[in-house]
Parts: sequence; structure tokens; C-alpha cells
Amino acid sequence: MRERRKLIVVSNRGPVTYGRDADGNRTESRGGGGLATALRGLVEQHDVTWIANAMTDEDRVVAGEEQRETILLAQDPGAYDLYYNVAANPTLWFVQHMLWNLPYTPDFDRHAWVDGYRVVNATMARAVIAALDRDPAAAVFFQDYHLYLAPEIVRRERPDTLMSQFVHIPWPEADAWSVLPPDVRADVFTGLLANDVVGFHTHRWQRNFLRGCIDVLDADVEGDVVRHDGRATLVTAHPIGIDTVDFDALSDRDDVRERERELVASRPEQLVVRVDRTDPSKNIVRGFRAFALMLERHPELRGRVRMLALLDPSRQDIPEYADYVAAIEHEAAALGDAVDLRIGDDFARSVAAYKQFDVLLVNSVFDGLNLVAKEGSYVNGRNGVLVLSENAGSSEELGEWAVNVNPFDVSTQADALYAALAMDAAEKHRRAEAIRAHLRTHDIEEWGALQMADLDRVRSTV
Ligand code: G6P
Repeated sequence: MRERRKLIVVSNRGPVTYGRDADGNRTESRGGGGLATALRGLVEQHDVTWIANAMTDEDRVVAGEEQRETILLAQDPGAYDLYYNVAANPTLWFVQHMLWNLPYTPDFDRHAWVDGYRVVNATMARAVIAALDRDPAAAVFFQDYHLYLAPEIVRRERPDTLMSQFVHIPWPEADAWSVLPPDVRADVFTGLLANDVVGFHTHRWQRNFLRGCIDVLDADVEGDVVRHDGRATLVTAHPIGIDTVDFDALSDRDDVRERERELVASRPEQLVVRVDRTDPSKNIVRGFRAFALMLERHPELRGRVRMLALLDPSRQDIPEYADYVAAIEHEAAALGDAVDLRIGDDFARSVAAYKQFDVLLVNSVFDGLNLVAKEGSYVNGRNGVLVLSENAGSSEELGEWAVNVNPFDVSTQADALYAALAMDAAEKHRRAEAIRAHLRTHDIEEWGALQMADLDRVRSTV
């Protein structure tokens, strides 16, 4: 039995979100996105207070009530809009996934940074300090790119608190950060270095961050430790794993089995699946083009292979994201009935598709990790083949058993899809088994334990 810790987890999106049904009763559902799903395991193992932002109207009502384990904060709506829809997304997200079209965009929005991002980070930092007043021995665990400025505010008030931050998205090389003005990119790096530990999914992002600390801040870097402003920060790489127990149960659930029966009844000989948020970083448009090109090169596969694209609408108040959905629909229409495009949030259907694919396409432009590659490979029952972008963090772990692709090379992606569809049964089995064995060993519990071990390593040196 592992030691139970007192933890304060801080993230933009919380583990639950509230709504109202037709009769006006409060409903509760799982917070969307990989991060909220992945962190749920920590809550079971430790004494966690989770601080997050209210997203829905009902969340805001809950925020006004007495709260205990999960604390939802109702931010000023104007500040929250600038923070979420301009500064965090698309600005930081696009810098970190290298999505800006630099001759034209971005036009840096300082108002959103100062009156949105900073304000929301300060409010979250105050909530953390209040939680530390109730529980001074708790360690603080910040999540992701929404919260680069909060740690420094907490550090000023509580110099001895153990703090760590995990960045779930890519960390690009220092030049990519030049898209932001010098003071803003310095704020990002110094903000993160207020933590005792900064974690990434891959060595690639870890290396870029360490190098960036030298280039942007002129900090001292020795191995995996950065020294700056009289403090030391440990920078680590631990890819998050999946909750295998949860996925075993999920793939057996009635609603998933029902969805699977529907899928089996209508499936062609071979099925290419993709499951994503409608995010430009996911490279959905090029994926359709590659599939179309593959059919053009191998017309004998027409009618025998279909692509099923299950896409969860994401961040639709942001023009770049709304435009991307339109581009996806346009591209899919050109493929006719060779593609089955479903835009909507239906987790049971996604798990059913995970079980049924022959090929899983993950061709992200850049991706911190990509949990679909892991979840899909784990529950699949057909020894399906993973076609994986070399720029997805999970390629550092799974690349050896995947068919690897460069996300910008549509022609090679078409050939990769064909190679995956044509692979012989023994080779498919060998690869799928190796991935499953890896995922069983390197699961969410291991990831949680490694986070705690990092904190211990730091505690023993301070
Ligand atoms: C990514 C990010 C998460 C985020 C999720 C969903 O996985 O790393 O922090 O929660 O996308 O995005 P959303 O904007 O809907 O929270």
C-alpha cells in the first residue's frame, strides 16, 4: 500500500462538470479531455483537494455553495474569456504546437495576457493559498499550460511549500517562444521555475525546456536541474499511462457493447479509426487526404475499407477552431461514403471503435503525448496496427511497434495506411502484444508514483 499524501491539484478543467436535466435537476458528468480522465486515479490514492475553474452555468452555481474535495472557482466572465479563448487558446497552445501561420498570425494580444491570463492565474493562486492555510503540509500539483503564472504567486506567499507542475503539451525549442514578446516568454519560464519540479511526457520536451531556460533566462542548467533566482527546479520526463483497470471495465460496459454491436453490424472488411478533439494540432484534414490518396493508389480497397472519424467538438468560441471544423467537413465530403464522420461527444462509441479498428490513425502535427494511441491500442481486440506521428509524445514509447509517419508528408502517410492494412497477422500480433504489455506495466499508477518520487527527491535536498 502506497503512502497517502495530502495534495492540492490545480487545473483549468476539473474532474466533474455540472448541468441540469429537463426536470431542472442537477446532473454531474466526467470532465472532458485526457488530462481530467488521467488524473482521476490520483484522487483515489491520495487525499486530494482539486481546485479548478467553473465551466458551465451550473458549475458557477456550485462554486457559490460549500465545497470540500473539489473546489470550483467562478472567475469574472470577461477575464475568463480572455484567459481561455485568447491567451491559453489559441496563443500558448498554438506556440507550443507550432500552429501559427507566422507571416500573418498571431497579433499578440497583451490585453488578454494582462487582464485575462494573469488575473485568472492570480485568482487560482489565491485559492491555493487559502487551501494551504487549511492544510499547510499539502504539496501543490499544478497542471498544464493554463497555469504558468500561478506558482510564482504562491511561492512568494508560501516559500516552503512543495510545488510541482506537469505540462501535458509539447515544449518547443526556444525560437518558437520568440513569437511572444520577451517579457511574456520570460514570465512563462520564470513562472514555471517557481515550482520545485516541472514534468513533461517526453525527453524531447524536457530537453527543449532545459535548453530554453538557458536561451530565454540565461539560467544555470546542470543535468536535469535548473538554477535561477536563488532557487533550484528539477525537470523530469514521465509519460502518463492509462488506468488499465478502468479501461478493462469500460470495454465491458453495456453501453459500449451496444455501440460495438451497431459497429460490427455495419463495418466493412477493414476499418481505419481516428478519435480526436476537433483541434488543428490533430491533423485531421491531412489524415483524410492521406486516406483518399491511399484509395486512389489501391482502388481494389474501395468498398472494403472505410475510415471512421469520431471527433469531439472543441473550443468552438475560438475562430481558428470553428474554421477547422468547417475544413474537416469539407474534406470529408470529398471522400463520400469512404469516410464516416461523426462530430459529437460519445465516449462509449469511441471505446467501441477502439475495440474494432484494424488501423488506428494518430497523425498529430504535434502532441504532448496522445492518450488515444494508448487507450485504443489497449482495448483493441483485432491486433490492429497503430499508425503514429513522429511528433506525438507517445512515439517515444510506442514508436518501436507502430508504423511511424511524418505528419506533413501526406504521400508517405497514404503508404503507411496501406502497409498497416496489408500487414500479416503474425507481425500484427507481435506488435499489438508488445504495446499491450508496455501499457500494463507503465500505467497511471506508475506515473503517479513517479510524480511523488520526484517530490521526495526534491524534499530530501531542501
Ligand atoms: C488537452 C490539454 C488539457 C485540456 C484538454 C481538453 O489534453 O492538455 O489541459 O483539458 O486538452 O481541452 P479543453 O480546452 O476542452 O479543456
